Amino acid sequence: MTASLYLGLISGTSADGIDAALVEFADPSATAPVRVIAARTTPYPDDLRARVLALATRDAAVALDDYGTLDVEIGEAFADAARALLDAAGVAPAAVAALGSHGQTLRHRPHGAHPFTLQIGDPSVIAERCGILTVADFRRADLAAGGQGAPLLPALHAAVFAHATIPRAVLNLGGIANLTILAPGHDVLGFDTGPANCLLDAWAMRHLGAARDEGGAWAASGRVDAALLAVWLRDPYFSAPPPKSSGREVFNLDWLDARVPAGLAPADVQATLLHLSARSIADALRAHGREASEVYACGGGVHNAALMAALRTELPGVRVDTTTALGLDPDYVEAVGFAWLARARLAGKPGNLPSVTGARGPRLLGALYPAPSRPRSR
Ligand SMILES: Nc1ncnc2c1ncn2[C@@H]1O[C@H](COP(=O)(O)OP(=O)(O)O)[C@@H](O)[C@H]1O
Ligand SMILES: [Mg+2]
Repeated sequence: MTASLYLGLISGTSADGIDAALVEFADPSATAPVRVIAARTTPYPDDLRARVLALATRDAAVALDDYGTLDVEIGEAFADAARALLDAAGVAPAAVAALGSHGQTLRHRPHGAHPFTLQIGDPSVIAERCGILTVADFRRADLAAGGQGAPLLPALHAAVFAHATIPRAVLNLGGIANLTILAPGHDVLGFDTGPANCLLDAWAMRHLGAARDEGGAWAASGRVDAALLAVWLRDPYFSAPPPKSSGREVFNLDWLDARVPAGLAPADVQATLLHLSARSIADALRAHGREASEVYACGGGVHNAALMAALRTELPGVRVDTTTALGLDPDYVEAVGFAWLARARLAGKPGNLPSVTGARGPRLLGALYPAPSRPRSR
């Protein structure tokens, strides 16, 4: 049997859990270039998520022992997620050509004299435990070439979602929101617009003790403070031109605590945060969207009905839908993307788009971690 399947793994900035997708890619000329064979999300245990968020959010001194241990623990969790997916699908590791693992981002600092990005989840552990060639460390080659190292998904979006004549946008609503602009006759554009869910999650955790505001119901119960929203929107990140990327190290509780006036009801803060996400996305689309008339959303934020409704209100005349309408489950677009990037790496094809990341040129993305050799069957 020739291995023709690819497996993608990611835990995004929300650190809510590991998304895994087992994917088959058809010939690019085929009408459906991507087929998801199986997919699942494995939530992080509470303790692991808490430790990830502690290291990812604060600049507190980090003990190297904590960092090293977490690197291996996340690698083990990623391997378990991949194996559970294969078991559920009844697919043997030998049928998988490669596994692409994004890992868990702890820091993303694309600016300064020595820009860096840091993802953990030891790929050697994944390769060893899964018995599958693993590709990881997808971002640093782009950073080394002067790029942002992010976002990386626009290449997949362009390959599977672009339309020949209609300008479209793909909107990933993870912890951070990323927009990809697919306009016929133009280079692909893609950038982080700012927060999608990360501030909503953090505020819900503080005031509801819950990992998220289910469906955005709490935000919908509050009142938007328009004056405060206008102040928040003055953060220079929102008006900075692309290429740009961001993360939890900017949009976190410290950012919020410095900007929430005393006495405002927590539900009103949540309502205003939700509209901060929606408005900053809509503003970015108006500024850079090349008249895109269709927006296809993916990522966990599609389950926040109040956020989706706010986006529709902010974008009159634009079709706001999810990637389901284009044949891909919105919960697994990112995981499919890392399977796709692993395949590109094996094929010797660049994974970045310099028009998106600002890199000096196309680069091969990812390093290879071989599977342990298997005993030959006779
Ligand atoms: N039912 C839901 N109601 C509200 N928010 C949700 C729901 N499901 C997922 N989310 C949001 O989506 C986030 C996870 O989305 P995901 O695409 O996995 O982001 P990331 O890539 O940053 O991990 C959660 O942190 C949460 O904020
Ligand atoms: Mg996630």
